[in-house]
Amino acid sequence: MLWRKVTLAAAIILCAGTGFAAADSTAVEKDETLWRDAEGDPTYKIGDDGLVDYRTYMGYKRYTGNCMPCHGPDGAGSTFAPDLTGSLKTIDYTKFTEVVSSGQQNVWHPSNSVMPAWGTDLNVMCYIDDIYVYLRARSDGAVGRGEPKRPPVDKAAKDAAYSCLGF
Ligand code: HEC
Repeated sequence: MLWRKVTLAAAIILCAGTGFAAADSTAVEKDETLWRDAEGDPTYKIGDDGLVDYRTYMGYKRYTGNCMPCHGPDGAGSTFAPDLTGSLKTIDYTKFTEVVSSGQQNVWHPSNSVMPAWGTDLNVMCYIDDIYVYLRARSDGAVGRGEPKRPPVDKAAKDAAYSCLGF
């Protein structure tokens, strides 16, 4: 039906116009221990050996420990918290860090829908970039479901996380 095609085309144009098109996740440069895209936002990197970078792997671990109970395994969502692989197609890094540190209520669902604030929880905040890059990789379909194959430990990243945690 023609009207459906027209509506779809209009929707695509609208999305592109409002910046809803997903940002390019290509890793451009690494600062210390974290890969960044052309905009300077944290991103993941899949090596030639097919392994994810260490921060993405740690993101899987921390996501599973802290976020999975509500958001479901692998960021895929549950009946009481949104599918974050979908959310990351529309919310950017700044918005992500804002919601995770300050929480959010009744945006995704109109009532009794509470995302806790993690701003004072070091187990989350010391790994917020790791969690972001893991979810970004999941959202792009670059990492599948389940635990990614473990890459070698990045000692600098591990030390930085431990010092953030106060060890
Ligand atoms: C106690 C349950 C719970 C836990 C644990 C939890 N969340 Fe949430 N989260 C929610 C709910 C519910 C919402 C939707 C809130 C709303 O309706 O505005 C949400 C929303 C979000 C959003 C916004 C999504 C969107 O599309 O608006 C992000 C991002 C998010 N959570 C990330 C995380 C991360 C990262 C963690 C782990 C550090 C985490 N959440 C842990 C319940 C939880």
